[in-house]
Amino acid sequence: MAKLVGFKKTRTAIFISGAGSNFKNLINFSKKKNSPIKIILVLSNNPKAKGLKYVSGNRIKKKIFKFINKRNKENHILKYLKKNKIDLICLAGFMKILSKNFIKKFNGLILNIHPSLLPKYKGLNTHEKAIRNKDKYSGCSVHLVNSKLDSGKIIMQKKVRILKTDNPKTLAKRVLKAEHILYPKAIGKILINL
Ligand code: GRF
Repeated sequence: MAKLVGFKKTRTAIFISGAGSNFKNLINFSKKKNSPIKIILVLSNNPKAKGLKYVSGNRIKKKIFKFINKRNKENHILKYLKKNKIDLICLAGFMKILSKNFIKKFNGLILNIHPSLLPKYKGLNTHEKAIRNKDKYSGCSVHLVNSKLDSGKIIMQKKVRILKTDNPKTLAKRVLKAEHILYPKAIGKILINL
């Protein structure tokens, strides 16, 4: 059988602020034999982020940065990422906006997952908005990160039907399931197409 020779996994950092279900899902994805990523570290602005627990048993470094003096902190983070040879950042429920300075200086790719069919509903409360506007579909998008909120080039999207009985919570649950399918696919797409 042919062997994959010289296949090097992309050194990846995940940024989270909360529950971390996407982080957990990406850990599982990274463990697959043909996965293009290796998760080196997780970074959070929130020391209480529940998702941080998923590092245990996984040899993933955990780093908290509090983002108080932003420019100063960002330069620290950039240094830390460089030291760890990170080439890909996946934002996954990360509730801080990265500055132009950070995006320009980071020498790699930055992806984000957002719970709407962008360009519709940037920012927060996407499910409320979709239901209020009586949309037929909601969904999720993986996009490149630029300095404008939820506005970089869209890599992939996945639609989720909005049911008559949906409220923001029930819809969020189904969209999150779709996110767990979409994020690994979009990572595969962008890393193979590079
Ligand atoms: C997801 O819906 C993601 O799209 C949004 O924040 C939520 C994070 O969920 N940016 P989790 O922390 O990955 O469970």
